[in-house]
Amino acid sequence: MVKQSRSFVVAVVVFCVAAAASVQGAQNVAESTVSQAYLQPVSDWPALHPNAAGELAALPEPLPVDETLVRIGERLFHDPKLSKDGTISCASCHKSNHHFADNVRISPGVAGKEGRRTAQMLRLVGHWDKLFWDGRVSQLKELVEQPLTDPVEMASSIEHVMAYVMAKPGYHDALADYFKEDLQWEQVASAIAEYIMSLDAPMRRFDYFMQAIAAGDMAQAANYLSEEERWGMHLFRTKAGCVQCHAGPLFSDQQLHNIGLAYYGRHFEDLGHYRVSGQAEHVGAFRTPSLRYVSERPHLMHNGLFNDLNGIVRMYRHGGPRPRPKGDQVNDPLFPETSPLLVPFELSQEEENAIVSFLKTL
Ligand code: HEC
Ligand code: HEC
Repeated sequence: MVKQSRSFVVAVVVFCVAAAASVQGAQNVAESTVSQAYLQPVSDWPALHPNAAGELAALPEPLPVDETLVRIGERLFHDPKLSKDGTISCASCHKSNHHFADNVRISPGVAGKEGRRTAQMLRLVGHWDKLFWDGRVSQLKELVEQPLTDPVEMASSIEHVMAYVMAKPGYHDALADYFKEDLQWEQVASAIAEYIMSLDAPMRRFDYFMQAIAAGDMAQAANYLSEEERWGMHLFRTKAGCVQCHAGPLFSDQQLHNIGLAYYGRHFEDLGHYRVSGQAEHVGAFRTPSLRYVSERPHLMHNGLFNDLNGIVRMYRHGGPRPRPKGDQVNDPLFPETSPLLVPFELSQEEENAIVSFLKTL
């Protein structure tokens, strides 16, 4: 009897191991067949998710910029004297060795004051049609004034900046030479905007892969993205639904969505685009961020509270956070609703890892 039950246990264990191995085997076959399908022209790739905002694409061409203006803007960008107390420049928070984002969650401004959102990366900034996490500004030239005058960032004023620039021949003469007219704030702002538009966006393995695909060199393409990474790209484009919002060369649809991180009524509350539009549907809505260089940017989401890509993929797998209203929130018309585009989906550990591996190629 004892002997019998032991052999039963052994049989069950053997069965389970075999079953797991065959699931693993099926997974490997799926991974390899699917990833093979991406060694073809983009038009022959497996169908995109039905709600996709677009196809994935290589980095755009750099924008045309005026080098003279860029050089003036570069100096202004790095000059702490533009701030109220002479301590903070744009580069204090947008650091060149961190993709012009910051390596701290919340960047300290003048006198160590702290804002609420995490500093955005400035690479590719000239390609956005709305700026800031909440999309509240559309023109770079108009945006420049905001960090300069924000009381917790540079706490300065246009008057302070203009008095400083006028008194400094290096700036004054260079700008007067360039614009050939009396110096205005708009010219100072356009020099800074021109500089940040000129920041390079280095090609990543994904871009070399796309280049090889476009050139029809499939063997080379296979060298740039591994089977696992191509499988991750497939999941990203299909069942995981990421392409509904993260598509195109920036991996962003440039639209506002609430993915459930408003922290409504809680410590980290941020109402997002609602503060701009006043419309209840915009509570917690933020501009879809670019996923470029995402694995090298440690503070993710508008609040910078996320840093684990696996954790982020798992959050989406569950259909995103869907907080339930409590108590008097039940009848609150502003209680945010998570985007209906986020729906739960099945994802194995291997599939989750494959998506993360793909994100690391961007
Ligand atoms: C104290 C830190 C700090 C300083 C100084 C600072 N920024 Fe920022 N920057 C931020 C933060 C935080 C955000 C995101 C703010 C938001 O979305 O509300 C941001 C966002 C931006 C964006 C929007 C990027 C995008 O993808 O939409 C641009 C452009 C920008 N900053 C340029 C500048 C310029 C130019 C200067 C100097 C004049 C500057 N910043 C100074 C912290 C800073
Ligand atoms: C409904 C649109 C939508 C879908 C679908 C979506 N995202 Fe996002 N994603 C966003 C928005 C909006 C944010 C910023 C939210 C915020 O800051 O509150 C974001 C942020 C992120 C970030 C942080 C990026 C940064 O720079 O901080 C990552 C990583 C990310 N998404 C990956 C994914 C992946 C992987 C998928 C698919 C599993 C996915 N997203 C699906 C809209 C979407």
